[in-house]
Amino acid sequence: MALTGKKVLVTGGAGFVGSHLAERLIALNPASLTIVDNFFLGRMENLENIVNDIQVVRMDASDLSAMRQIVRAEKIDVVFDLAVIPLPTSLEYPAWTVQTNVAIATTFCELARFGDIDTLIHCSSSEAYGTAQVVPMTEEHPLAAITPYAASKAAADQVVLSYCRTFGIDATIVRPFNQFGPRQNDRAYAGIIPIVINRVTQGLPVEIFGDGKQTRDYIFVRDTTDFIVKAYSETATRGQVINVGSGREITINELVQKLLAVMHANDHPVIHTHPRPGDVRQHCAGIEKARQMLGVNPPGVTHENLNETVEWYLKAKSA
Ligand SMILES: NC(=O)c1ccc[n+]([C@@H]2O[C@H](COP(=O)([O-])OP(=O)(O)OC[C@H]3O[C@@H](n4cnc5c(N)ncnc54)[C@H](O)[C@@H]3O)[C@@H](O)[C@H]2O)c1
Repeated sequence: MALTGKKVLVTGGAGFVGSHLAERLIALNPASLTIVDNFFLGRMENLENIVNDIQVVRMDASDLSAMRQIVRAEKIDVVFDLAVIPLPTSLEYPAWTVQTNVAIATTFCELARFGDIDTLIHCSSSEAYGTAQVVPMTEEHPLAAITPYAASKAAADQVVLSYCRTFGIDATIVRPFNQFGPRQNDRAYAGIIPIVINRVTQGLPVEIFGDGKQTRDYIFVRDTTDFIVKAYSETATRGQVINVGSGREITINELVQKLLAVMHANDHPVIHTHPRPGDVRQHCAGIEKARQMLGVNPPGVTHENLNETVEWYLKAKSA
């Protein structure tokens, strides 16, 4: 199924992954592209390359009546649902995070149920699996969320799947592992890559929570958008969960060393602090399903994509 000529809405489109997805969608010539974002962490600058091609609506995606108004007014065909309250917020405001994240997903399930939209592509998170019980983690891995954020992502997925089974809505769940790339939030609640870049540029030691032997599966953000668009196009994915990852495991220690090498800061001091509450110990995506259904084969962390990421942050800082 092609996106060309479709009226598309992206929730969380001013955020990190959402803004890259929006750029990718514009290149596919949709009839229109609407971004819904409440700017909790989103930024207008993330959309500067496509600002003349999109409509930006500053609203809460968990507000069903407001979203119904928008999708009806814009005659939206497809929703890519990426809006989220992130993990670190859930450690301070767990109830609000859970309520908001589940409400956003449920809102678009309702709109699909009543025929206000044709298709929903909902974005989950590998955090829903918890610590790996087996590696690689396929889509059949049990959901054993550790943090309230992870629980909200697992719960939202169950809502989407229940609407597929009960009401036959046309929906696919994409479940990304860790992302990196330009525009990842580097302020409060930042991810490890922007934090390391900040510490190095400020001459501060890099802090690793725990022993640094915890593993993650990192995928470059434009590879993620490739999965997401293909998950829409391939209708056999409907009613299913598709992992989005590289299928490669990297320890936090290795990731930090690669980053320091790209930044020509190999000797920069690194210290280990207390483990973060709820930190997942081992994560690696099983991506056989995505390989077979979507024909993807992402490279994971490479010198090139880390370098592009570092350059973007250094340029943003000097602007
Ligand atoms: N970044 C990662 O490593 C990662 C990993 C796995 C899954 N994901 C998933 O990818 C999706 C996008 O994450 P991201 O990293 O781009 O996060 P992000 O915080 O950069 O983007 C999320 C966007 O949602 C917006 N938002 C929050 N609450 C909203 C609301 N109620 N209404 C409208 N907009 C709202 C924020 O302002 C922000 O622009 C999320 O579903 C997330 O769970 C991300």
